[in-house]
Amino acid sequence: MNITFLLNGETVELADVDPTVTLLDWLREDRGLTGTKEGCNEGDCGACTVMVTDEGGHKALNACILFLPQLHGKAVRTVEGASGPNGEAHPVQQAMVDLHGSQCGFCTPGFVMSMVAGHTNGATDHDTQLAGNLCRCTGYAPIVRAAQAAEDKPVPVWVRDTPVASRVSSPMLPESSDELASVYAKHPNATLVAGATDVGLWVTKQLRNLDTVIFLNRCDDLKDIKVTDDEIRFGAMVDMNRMGDALADLHPSYAEMIRRYASVQVRHAATVGGNIANGSPIGDNPPALIALGATLHLRKGDDRRAIKLEEFFIDYGKQDRTSGEFVEAVSIPRQVDRLKTYKLSKRFDQDISAVCGCFNITVAEGVIKDARIAFGGMAGIPKRARHVEDALVGKPWTHQTIKAAQPAFATDYTPMTDMRASATYRLETAKALLERYFLEDQGEVTNVLEVSA
Ligand SMILES: Cc1cc2nc3c(=O)[nH]c(=O)nc-3n(C[C@H](O)[C@H](O)[C@H](O)COP(=O)(O)OP(=O)(O)OC[C@H]3O[C@@H](n4cnc5c(N)ncnc54)[C@H](O)[C@@H]3O)c2cc1C
Ligand code: FES
Ligand code: FES
Repeated sequence: MNITFLLNGETVELADVDPTVTLLDWLREDRGLTGTKEGCNEGDCGACTVMVTDEGGHKALNACILFLPQLHGKAVRTVEGASGPNGEAHPVQQAMVDLHGSQCGFCTPGFVMSMVAGHTNGATDHDTQLAGNLCRCTGYAPIVRAAQAAEDKPVPVWVRDTPVASRVSSPMLPESSDELASVYAKHPNATLVAGATDVGLWVTKQLRNLDTVIFLNRCDDLKDIKVTDDEIRFGAMVDMNRMGDALADLHPSYAEMIRRYASVQVRHAATVGGNIANGSPIGDNPPALIALGATLHLRKGDDRRAIKLEEFFIDYGKQDRTSGEFVEAVSIPRQVDRLKTYKLSKRFDQDISAVCGCFNITVAEGVIKDARIAFGGMAGIPKRARHVEDALVGKPWTHQTIKAAQPAFATDYTPMTDMRASATYRLETAKALLERYFLEDQGEVTNVLEVSA
């Protein structure tokens, strides 16, 4: 596989690239650019943050779970390229010095690159921008103060990268869903790589050798978001940040849940197709999509089929997807917004859900007309709470009805105990979330972040 990209403003052309070499390893070991640090090597700490520019804009990304072919046609800026050609400090670097934003300094290059990306984009939500960067000794207050101090400083010309014009380099880097369908049909056992926020860890943590790999990131038609009067359709390659933005007005609770999905860096990479296709019982999108009545669009060669999303998840590790078939899109019917999503995790930011409960209950003239409730973290698959739904539909929308329906959760789910939560906690919390949905609908404040003493 031959690839071309810009590295700190200079063109890099690589021939016969090993498709699973990470940008982090290549920068440090082949280029000697050791400013980009390795902390966790699994996307959690942000020490390896770089800025990648493509037609979608300037993005902070974790270099440790980014494979080189994912950079074809893009521009990469590392901490070595944050300062100017004559050694001028970038405004965020100067602010970090002036406001004492660094002690041991190990995390600092990663913070600086998140701040460079945020500054280039004019972002001022610094807590969100920096949630994917871990600092163990300075503390966040001086770092956030540095980000604030740089807000009004002009973006230096040298970080205004533009993507490079790139040629088709390999059939394993298809440029459209048609090309993908054709190459996947020829190599049905290949590993598909979308954002690599799962697959990257198979390589860096499980040390797996992936034989044949097909990258989806150049299939632009899979990145489309189409909002019509009837549906909202997300192409499989829509990343979490774009998904959150698209849902902000239509289903704000869903968008808020996505804001707590990992970090900015992971959200720039992780795709909705990957979050569904991996079949994880604790992925955050599937329960929300199931509660909204989503349809999954699958494709194999020229054959397409559409199924209810909940039917895709058959059992733990088993999905309704045949060899050579891929996720093309997921669509949600347009509806009045009644959705609430509740993500419970040990940390507010950058944590996998212990339980993710999604409720979509329609009430007319005081009677429950329809109920779609789905959970992650309660079974081996994302799963609807059909017995609870049955206990609700047709009943008056009252506290009494909620109380009467709560025991049905024990029929729907037999959750397990693991490091994230005990079975008892999961079951009790599912019941409590139904009550929370009801109370919020009555206008009560239930979010602990909004309750003040
Ligand atoms: C630090 C960190 C934090 C995380 N936090 C969260 C979180 O808060 N919530 C959450 O839900 N997840 C979280 N994840 C998990 C991860 O982000 C998701 O599972 C992600 O959505 C996977 O998408 P991807 O595009 O990166 O997929 P990839 O890693 O590229 O692929 C995942 C799997 O799906 C397959 N695949 C990808 N696209 C397709 C397609 N179109 N058709 C068929 N198969 C396909 C791949 O072959 C692979 O088997 C986190 C991961 C990391 C590293
Ligand atoms: S090294 Fe920790 S996120 Fe990459
Ligand atoms: S300065 Fe030491 S980890 Fe941040």
